[in-house]
Amino acid sequence: MEKIILKNADFEDQPNIDAYISRGGYKALEKALTMEPAAITDEVKKAGIRGRGGAGFPAGLKWSFIPKDTKKPIYLVCNADEGEPGTFKDRFIIERDPHLLVEGIAVSSYALKVKTAYIYIRGEFYKGAMMLEKAIEEAKAKGFLGSNVLGRDGVDIDIVVHRGAGAYVCGEETSLLESLEGKRGYPRLKPPFPAVVGAFGCPTVINNVETLAAVPWIILNGGAAYAKIGTEKSTGTKLFSVCGKVNKPGVYEVDLGYPFKKFLDEYCGGVKDGKKLKAVIPGGSSTPVLPAEEIEKVNLDYESIAAAGSMLGSGAVIVFDETDCMVEAITVLAHFYAHESCGQCTPCREGTAWMYRILQKIMNGEGKLSDIDLLYEICDNIMGKTVCPLGDAAAMPVVGFLNKYRHEFEYHIKNGKCDVKEKH
Ligand SMILES: Cc1cc2nc3c(=O)[nH]c(=O)nc-3n(C[C@H](O)[C@H](O)[C@H](O)COP(=O)(O)O)c2cc1C
Ligand code: SF4
Repeated sequence: MEKIILKNADFEDQPNIDAYISRGGYKALEKALTMEPAAITDEVKKAGIRGRGGAGFPAGLKWSFIPKDTKKPIYLVCNADEGEPGTFKDRFIIERDPHLLVEGIAVSSYALKVKTAYIYIRGEFYKGAMMLEKAIEEAKAKGFLGSNVLGRDGVDIDIVVHRGAGAYVCGEETSLLESLEGKRGYPRLKPPFPAVVGAFGCPTVINNVETLAAVPWIILNGGAAYAKIGTEKSTGTKLFSVCGKVNKPGVYEVDLGYPFKKFLDEYCGGVKDGKKLKAVIPGGSSTPVLPAEEIEKVNLDYESIAAAGSMLGSGAVIVFDETDCMVEAITVLAHFYAHESCGQCTPCREGTAWMYRILQKIMNGEGKLSDIDLLYEICDNIMGKTVCPLGDAAAMPVVGFLNKYRHEFEYHIKNGKCDVKEKH
């Protein structure tokens, strides 16, 4: 399997612009500048690449939503907020191969006629932010960024690194824009969509780090070559960040469609200490949990995971073994969402905090059987009824855990203790 995103990640001399260039770096930018901007968007469309930030929206299609006749500046924003529990693949790209991202942003900016691109990076990623600043300076010094890129008159591309303050909701694209504009990170109502009214009221494309890092390969090799990798509807490779009960946690790149079971055994070294696999959250903490017997049949692509009742999301795989208490796991996650709700809409503000309180009671053996129905009802009153998808992201995992592990909740309630902890 060819590595597209992590091809340079293991070299010791990384990250260094000369090393990057010696491995073919910035050749995609050179090639892109010989093409019409619209032809680059066409290649990205042909590649069929779906956004790697979570929702999986086709990148080329998103690019084509930018109004053709706009007199306003167009912005590109790279979303490097990466706040979903379990997700650490974008940080890996930034720290191992910052020039790949810089080149991806430069090519995409040329395609979209963007003169200023932003990288919105979460505040805690201090090292990553400094590495990106350095990479941008190096690229500027070699003429890959700045005015008249590689001697092409009128092609001016600047990249500005903007550090957030570290709120999960600022990864949501509209609150990211608010934060970028210097305001509090409250999500905006859509429509209008950012492609029409985005940063500073101007048309804006927002893409994930991994999405933009795939662009150089697509331009060098062609969209059709990319579309041949993976499955028909999930093209290309994907990074998966794996944590929890595995022998080798880390970030791995595989062709989409790779069987989960093989992935767990061959890449992640199997379940930690030879224990039994219990369950997996396949795509970041907002995606529904899948018990072992269901995840073992799944392939790592958008359709296969959706058919099993979950989502590929950002590709953050969280693994549970037989000793893990699922009531405890969802209580910890519920606490996170209650803490990260921005408070703008009542169902999310009140509902996430209420769910956490109920789950905490159940976990401590003080719950009632009617609390289970109440949790379902609260989730129902959050989902689809809020300004941004954080509400859904908080409710979906609760429904998933209740559906699949209701017996563990009932045991906690009826016996005032945890049967999993008792057994192990
Ligand atoms: C609460 C919340 C947090 C999000 N956090 C991120 C994030 O950290 N990084 C990211 O790329 N997308 C995140 N997203 C998705 C973005 O809103 C957006 O869809 C994505 O950046 C688009 O890029 P893509 O099309 O390349 O995937 C988040 C969405 C929600 C609702
Ligand atoms: S759903 Fe939650 S995080 Fe999103 S806008 Fe409403 S209150 Fe804020």
